Amino acid sequence: MAPYIGTATSRVDGIAKVTGAAKYAGEFNVPGLAHGSVVASTIAKGRITRIDTAAALSVEGVLTVLTHDNRPRMADDDQAYKDEVAPDGSPFRPLYDNKIMFNGQPIALVVAETSEVARFATSLVRVEYDEQAHVTDLYRQRDAAVPVPAPTNPIEAMFTPPKARGTPDQALAAAAVRHEAEYFVPIEHHNPMELFASTVIFEPGGKLTVYDKTQGVQNVQKYLCGVFGMKPEDVRVMSPFMGGGFGSGLRPQFEAVLAVLAARALQRSVRVVLTRPQMYALGYRPAMIQRIALGANAGGTLDVITHDAATVTSQYETFHRQETGWSGLLYKSANAKYAHRLVRLDLPTSCDMRAPSAAPALFALESAMDELAVALKLDPIELRLRCYSDRDQHENRPFSSKALRECYRQGAEAFGWDKRNPEPRSMRDGSDLVGWGMATGIWEALQMPITVRIALTANGHAEVACATSDIGTGTYTIMAQVAADMLGLPLDNISIKLGDSSLPQSPVEGGSWIATSVANGIATTAGAIRDELLRLARQIANSPLANATPDEVALADGKLVSKRDASRGVSIADAMRQGAMDRIEQEHTTNPADDHSRANNTHVAHFVEVKVDEQLGVVRVTRAVSAVAAGRILNPKTAGSQMLGGVVWGIGMALHEETLIDHRFGRIMNANIAEYHVPVNADVGDIKIIFVDEPDDSNPLGLKGLGEIGIVGVAAAVANAVYHATGKRVRNLPITLDKLQG
Ligand code: MOS
Repeated sequence: MAPYIGTATSRVDGIAKVTGAAKYAGEFNVPGLAHGSVVASTIAKGRITRIDTAAALSVEGVLTVLTHDNRPRMADDDQAYKDEVAPDGSPFRPLYDNKIMFNGQPIALVVAETSEVARFATSLVRVEYDEQAHVTDLYRQRDAAVPVPAPTNPIEAMFTPPKARGTPDQALAAAAVRHEAEYFVPIEHHNPMELFASTVIFEPGGKLTVYDKTQGVQNVQKYLCGVFGMKPEDVRVMSPFMGGGFGSGLRPQFEAVLAVLAARALQRSVRVVLTRPQMYALGYRPAMIQRIALGANAGGTLDVITHDAATVTSQYETFHRQETGWSGLLYKSANAKYAHRLVRLDLPTSCDMRAPSAAPALFALESAMDELAVALKLDPIELRLRCYSDRDQHENRPFSSKALRECYRQGAEAFGWDKRNPEPRSMRDGSDLVGWGMATGIWEALQMPITVRIALTANGHAEVACATSDIGTGTYTIMAQVAADMLGLPLDNISIKLGDSSLPQSPVEGGSWIATSVANGIATTAGAIRDELLRLARQIANSPLANATPDEVALADGKLVSKRDASRGVSIADAMRQGAMDRIEQEHTTNPADDHSRANNTHVAHFVEVKVDEQLGVVRVTRAVSAVAAGRILNPKTAGSQMLGGVVWGIGMALHEETLIDHRFGRIMNANIAEYHVPVNADVGDIKIIFVDEPDDSNPLGLKGLGEIGIVGVAAAVANAVYHATGKRVRNLPITLDKLQG
């Protein structure tokens, strides 16, 4: 039997998804389900002085209108609202009191017999406010920015700018060649296809089953228990499928609180589905103003890198990531310094969005490197090779593996980079200017503690259970592949249970850490199953494995066999018969190795071709090649899809995406996917993904995780290609055609 790990395997849940059998949070139906629809604030800051719900309540079919005045009891301390990935501060409490903290804040929930009646009745709720002056303009507030607070624990320390090294100011003053510029990435929203929804099944007695759109069922369960003072055994959170999250589902969101509030108020089952515009109040990629200074010697090596950033957070929480440190990690430079300040705006708290911090930071860094290459008259790949770093200079340690050189080589070759004329505006296709640009991306390879349970039955079927989610990335499939290989069974004999808070512990699915965590978790538990089978097999009279030790045997083709002599084996059925058992169950927790002597990162090299209509300034990405090094690839098909999605999103980041606020009202003007542009098929040319071989021994399976790395650097590669095509450097995203005029 060929191994499944490393084989392009179609999704095991694919048929369920395309036939509609896979149900999402807003699709679970029970008799008597009521429907909630959200009323959102139309001011950005102030207090509600009056909510008149009479007209809404008079509509036939309306059951209740919940507001801060009449809602059921909720916790009144911040700690109860802190979820597993909450930043510092005082988390938002939906319908808690009359205070308005952002435009679009949920302030009432109309609950009715049908969703249509509920939605209509929201239009009849009259709200009066005592409005206060708000601030939503990052540029106008940038002088009021405050440095990110000093960390108080190891998690926060991960997100604080690294220590400076060397003497960066002197090095910059003395550098033979300098490049310094400011770059801007606007607020962007996640826009998953599936709307955020929560269906709360109310059982007599008050127990709840909550089908919620989330990247972390146990995070939501713990949060709901805190907010409502409920016991864990009374709240089960399920998220069997997810139509995209990208970070917007890492923290519990307000649809879950509102649906539970209504279910408790009415003592019946309730569903709340947000509208697309309402999803713009859930969180966003913080806008980032950044200044990069590079100092190089004439030979094209870096003396100094400085990276300053200002990002957006809310007035009530302090969200940031380690936005500036990527610069001094990616390239070799004896001198470096970083600064990160936060601008508080009257908006919801910003949050993680695919490759948080790296996606915007690498736009700036990799644009700056391209500008430096131009100044040095060096090929952009050559500059990066001269600045290549084999060590993590923040911590002065090696990488566990880093095949970025191979990414450059294989990507350049597949793209045909050697045919590039470096002169801007030198390449044409009819009336189009042609530009070729490249950029690097870097992300972290993390593993988290996780618990996996496996139940193997005598007929050679196994159920693998873990509370992780499959946010669309293919987790069901890679779990089945790993279990099949480790247990020596066909893929069809494996069933996967996930997305259920009652299953063994999992962290939220994010940070590109679940594949590494859960796959190694399965390996651990499968090892325990093997040990148990061996214990039984050795007891069989004249057992062919009588003297075998656990590391001398493996599970293959439904048997426990000697690795030295494949003819010596005991079938799973015979081993279980010996123990008079029909199933073996094991549950184990797997922790990452406690080894900080090496850095764990993934890398990518992106190559992009754009064609620019010279008269109109319309930019099209016609071709892209991305060569990625991310350890061992579990499934080239699902991993390839993650990479494609990342590159497509990078095209959106480069050319289309921008959340626009009318600062007079502090309100998002384009809170819909008609006016917030994401790439459509016509915007996406041919994309080729290359997986570069990268052996790594940081964990038993040699995995690094892959998902977020795909987007990192793409926007810079596009911007660099646009410069090459047009001679025009655009440093503020998105690169819309107005910015290419004049
Ligand atoms: Mo990802 S931004 O950790 O869902």
